[in-house]
Amino acid sequence: MSVTQELQDTINDLVDGRRGILAADESSGTISKRFAAVGVESSEESHRDYRSLLLSTAGLGEFIAGVILFEETLGQTDDRGSPLPDVASAQGIVPGIKVDKGKGPLPGAPGDLITYGLDGLTERLDGYKQQGARFAKWREVYPITGHNPTPLGLTANAEMLARYAAVCQAVGVVPIVEPEVLIDGEHSIERSAAVNEQVWQSVFDALHRHGVVLEKMLLKPSMVTPGKVSGKAAPEQVAEMTLQVLRRAVPAAVPSINFLSGGQTPEEATANLNALNVIRDRAPWQLSFSFARALQEPALSTWRGKAENSAATQAIFLKRARLNHLAMQGQYRA
Ligand code: 13P
Repeated sequence: MSVTQELQDTINDLVDGRRGILAADESSGTISKRFAAVGVESSEESHRDYRSLLLSTAGLGEFIAGVILFEETLGQTDDRGSPLPDVASAQGIVPGIKVDKGKGPLPGAPGDLITYGLDGLTERLDGYKQQGARFAKWREVYPITGHNPTPLGLTANAEMLARYAAVCQAVGVVPIVEPEVLIDGEHSIERSAAVNEQVWQSVFDALHRHGVVLEKMLLKPSMVTPGKVSGKAAPEQVAEMTLQVLRRAVPAAVPSINFLSGGQTPEEATANLNALNVIRDRAPWQLSFSFARALQEPALSTWRGKAENSAATQAIFLKRARLNHLAMQGQYRA
């Protein structure tokens, strides 16, 4: 099969107007923090137990089209010995893989960050493909302060996302391009809109320069919201401002926008996604989700590492997936 056909098949499987993506790709450090918060010891075995529980939830494939896995998970099996990527595929869920290697300070741009992991990416992707991954994710992170992101932060982060996306497409792996503008801080929703607009414009400029085919990638942005300590905006306002800025900066050729939840509560993230889809006649792209915390938080605090909580965990997890599926139709009622 040609690389172009391979990319298109994956896009077709991920973008069907009714399902979203589960981000279950927390790094070892992040999952340890999430587990510690509910009193679960972090080990490869406990990660496997939890993630195989989520992926084997009956009916999950109704609402979830793809799952982003962490490298460790790609090589793990369920209790019956099936590789976890196969457990996802058997539900009609496309396995994907987080390929960035985390972030650190960007020299020359105090307060800005940059993500690592381009060296050897082609070879790593070849290996991940053999383990079943058909799409990838790379996240760049943009804190908002009085002086961040800087012009250098904008160009350097956009360049990383574009180089990553170009490498993915060359080997037939669909790239999810994730520029996360952080919710942390006391900025206004207007400032969030202005920063997201700059970020998305710089990212699409770089994607264009690197020859990335926009029809064969997905964008995973933040929603436009006020800073975490600035209070909340109504879903209708979040939706209006997010859509206004997306329309200015994101070409219509992109098939789907799969928002991250970024520290919103599960209910907020779903209500905001719903409000976006209520006005989606103004959007040329599918408006979907790629949540980690907003899908998993209630499940994780139900599970708490105990086998006897498995059924309740799967039930609450499936419920959040279903509510976000309803939000994609603009049919969620809080
Ligand atoms: P959240 O939805 O928890 O923000 O996570 C999405 C994600 O994949 C971050 O990279």
